[in-house]
Amino acid sequence: MMSFDLSHAKIAVIGSGTMGIGIAQLAIINGHATILYDLDREKAQQEVDGLHQTFAKLVEKGRITHEQVQQACSRLSIANGIDDLADVDLVIEAVVEKLEVKQALFQQLASICSEQTVFATNTSSISVTAIAAGIPQPERVVGLHFFNPAPVMKLVEIVQGLKTPVALCQALKALMLVWKKIPVLTKSTPGFIVNRIARPFYAEAFRALQEQVTSYDQLDYALKQCGGFAMGPCELTDLIGQDVNFSVTQSVYEAFFYEPRYRPSLVQKELVDAGAWGRKSKQGFYHYDARNQYSTFQPQALSTTPFQAQIQVKGTWSQLPELFTRLALNSGTEHEQNIIQIDDIDLRFSQGESAHLNYLSRKTVLMDWHHDFAQAQAVVLSHNPLCQADDLAKVEAFFAQYQIHVIWIKDHPALLTLRTIVLLINEACEASLHGIATMEDIDNAMRYGVNYPKGPYQWMMQLGAAYVLQTLNNLYAIYGEEKYRASLYLKQYVAKQQSLALDDSKDLTACA
Ligand SMILES: NC(=O)c1ccc[n+]([C@@H]2O[C@H](COP(=O)([O-])OP(=O)(O)OC[C@H]3O[C@@H](n4cnc5c(N)ncnc54)[C@H](O)[C@@H]3O)[C@@H](O)[C@H]2O)c1
Repeated sequence: MMSFDLSHAKIAVIGSGTMGIGIAQLAIINGHATILYDLDREKAQQEVDGLHQTFAKLVEKGRITHEQVQQACSRLSIANGIDDLADVDLVIEAVVEKLEVKQALFQQLASICSEQTVFATNTSSISVTAIAAGIPQPERVVGLHFFNPAPVMKLVEIVQGLKTPVALCQALKALMLVWKKIPVLTKSTPGFIVNRIARPFYAEAFRALQEQVTSYDQLDYALKQCGGFAMGPCELTDLIGQDVNFSVTQSVYEAFFYEPRYRPSLVQKELVDAGAWGRKSKQGFYHYDARNQYSTFQPQALSTTPFQAQIQVKGTWSQLPELFTRLALNSGTEHEQNIIQIDDIDLRFSQGESAHLNYLSRKTVLMDWHHDFAQAQAVVLSHNPLCQADDLAKVEAFFAQYQIHVIWIKDHPALLTLRTIVLLINEACEASLHGIATMEDIDNAMRYGVNYPKGPYQWMMQLGAAYVLQTLNNLYAIYGEEKYRASLYLKQYVAKQQSLALDDSKDLTACA
């Protein structure tokens, strides 16, 4: 029976690249004797020299004391060869992303280290189960997926391979908590949590661009302003590198046996083929100057047309109470949908319908979701062909009264932000259906691995699960595409809520 107390583990970090040196920094700061091994010893030495400079800067900024640095550095050594790793308790490998290299490395280490030594891999896309296969005691192999830069990013995905015992994952979780990380537990499936659930954030953006719905800079503005994301999908993939992001999507798509939800985008492939990889090539969706500055979308000035129209509210708008406070409207009576009637124009909060296909007889404007209507500076709208220029001007004047800019896009079911959010929620539900991780770990993974303002389940609570399900059902009805099919997990969640509500009302009737 292997014991897994790693609190005083002697650690070997293998690979002194971007990730390895960051992991070594974390290990020595947290009190572990650490040995760094790279095939290229000179490179390891250079990286350690660079680490000393990093520490000097941290001392200058007062983040760490000179004594702490001295103690940390005294714990770090560089291996002269792989045999120097014989007595370590925990190996964390961060070598090239190739299955055969990682397997060969662990096989070699298995003959050098004790049977108790834990082998952790920082792989971002390879199956931990596959890495463990063919290694003596495959149950000691586990994923420990740090995010870049490792010393800064809070999230660590602890990945359980088919043979990895839960006790080992728990021991690594305890260690990561001591290192002040946010550890989440996940099964070894393609993309783990973050790189799987994040796919629709990119895929839906590229689809909107492919379908000529909006421009890349307007789309980024919408997702930042309305979704509360720190960066839009186009500027974020420019930062990550279009080539890198494309290859992650491609590997998740292939690993899931060509599941249509993960299909890569032709829009992104064009950029990759053109060498327009983003910031690193000074051209991606955006152009970058020498200082990496780029111009972003700014909405047009607010309409100055005085607003004159009759307003009538239908529905309770329970999903958007802050909108009502902001617009100082009284909510309407129960209605099948939320509508603000501006003269003869129906302004509806989107539920995944198409303005063109679903509303043939009335002037209709569909409104995208905003994460915080109390502070909203802009709303994204689309309309059906019955709306004329003066109708659109009236809607703009309506919002201008509240200092809210209007961004018109082509008819696009669930528009931009609502669509992205419901698909992220659906992806999280599929991950839950497959038992990949807990709801709490999924939310933490997305908040701390890719800095989303909220986790998918937090959004689901905000919007209401039934609303999310209806939006997906409408998208699925319009497109007939597998990728918009609502997850069984979401359907069951909504059904459970409904049956509990029915049960409650039975109790109330019984009391009355
Ligand atoms: N870069 C990221 O943003 C990131 C984020 C999370 C996870 N990862 C994963 O971390 C791992 C390392 O990525 P990286 O970006 O730090 O790579 P990198 O190319 O910067 O560094 C890899 C290092 O490993 C060394 N190396 C290669 N084969 C070796 C071997 N057999 N033995 C010893 N050393 C060897 C190389 O000399 C190099 O110094 C990969 O599995 C990658 O998928 C990377």
